[in-house]
Amino acid sequence: MSEEITALQHFDDASLDTAFAALAEEARLETASLTDPEAFRLHWLGRKQGRLKLISEAWLKSAPPEAKKALGIRFNQLKQQIEAALESPATATKSAVQGIDITLPGTLRTPGIPHPLLKTMHEIVSVFHHLGYSTNLGPQVESDFFNFEALNFPPNHPARDTQDTLVIANQHSRPSRDRLLMRTHTSPVQIRTMIAQAPPIRIVIPGKVHRNDAADATHSPIFHQIEGLCVDTNITFSDLKGTLDHAMKALFGSDVKTRFFPSFFPFTEPSADVQISCIFCGGKGCRKCKHSGWIELLGCGMVDPAVFAAVTAERRKINPSDDAYNPEKITGFAFGMGVERIAMMLHGVSDIGHFYSGDMRFLEQFA
Ligand code: PHE
Repeated sequence: MSEEITALQHFDDASLDTAFAALAEEARLETASLTDPEAFRLHWLGRKQGRLKLISEAWLKSAPPEAKKALGIRFNQLKQQIEAALESPATATKSAVQGIDITLPGTLRTPGIPHPLLKTMHEIVSVFHHLGYSTNLGPQVESDFFNFEALNFPPNHPARDTQDTLVIANQHSRPSRDRLLMRTHTSPVQIRTMIAQAPPIRIVIPGKVHRNDAADATHSPIFHQIEGLCVDTNITFSDLKGTLDHAMKALFGSDVKTRFFPSFFPFTEPSADVQISCIFCGGKGCRKCKHSGWIELLGCGMVDPAVFAAVTAERRKINPSDDAYNPEKITGFAFGMGVERIAMMLHGVSDIGHFYSGDMRFLEQFA
């Protein structure tokens, strides 16, 4: 072991220089290939068995009094060299670089890709951007007013029930319109936009929504919607039909047909469900469309005047004569669609849970 310190025979300057130069070289070589600084520190500076401790015992003690000073100076220089090697990050980097074997294969880094749901959202939003729509966002923690009241949900509407809505705890002392909940749809952003902005409005609202639903192959308590709102003078149901027919063709292919069925939403009147001809069988009828040839995809309708009235009431708190949303002068339409459902159709995904699993074998297929 190099721990053995040979006794010094001569204490003249030249002999001391030779002895210390050998030690300095030994330390320098160790520093050059330093992989374990703690082992290096123990080896040289260890309190009991460190080289410096042994040297001071073997040499300093046996040195004749007139040589002690010269020896001490060289001893301290060596100690400084070792401490500097331990402190200097440059040394550490240098040694790390020297430790790299450049013949080893490199680390393969897979570049990130947008999540399939995000990708689908971008695709849908971009269809509407091309029609002149812009994007608006809103909070996921929403008040009862924006999520329900202003959207004309009557106080005892079943959708307000905690069966469907995830409510924030400890809200009972608040007036009902201020109580917080996780938004159940993106429609509250319609209200936020109209309060802030006079017509004309053309916006799409992508975002996360929450419902107290049990997860299964087609449901998830957290999912995504894209809402649309168009408000202007002379907006008619034909505009709504034309816009959505175009959007469905842009998303699913120009062969796709659309049809509108009467439906109900508290905030639109009339309301409709939109079906598209089955993209799997071309409308002939298959298992995917339950042999009907049609697939139901989104909800829509003409903005209910009651919604404009709620918006006007809010706007009049700031400007009492505000008349921007007078239903005698302006009309509008709104629509809402589920992103997961569209992504599942576009990519043939059979279980909604795949989107949230984080399973690379699934996600890699979208790279
Ligand atoms: N907000 C409705 C829902 O979540 C969808 C919808 C939006 C319907 C806009 C009509 C107009 O079911």
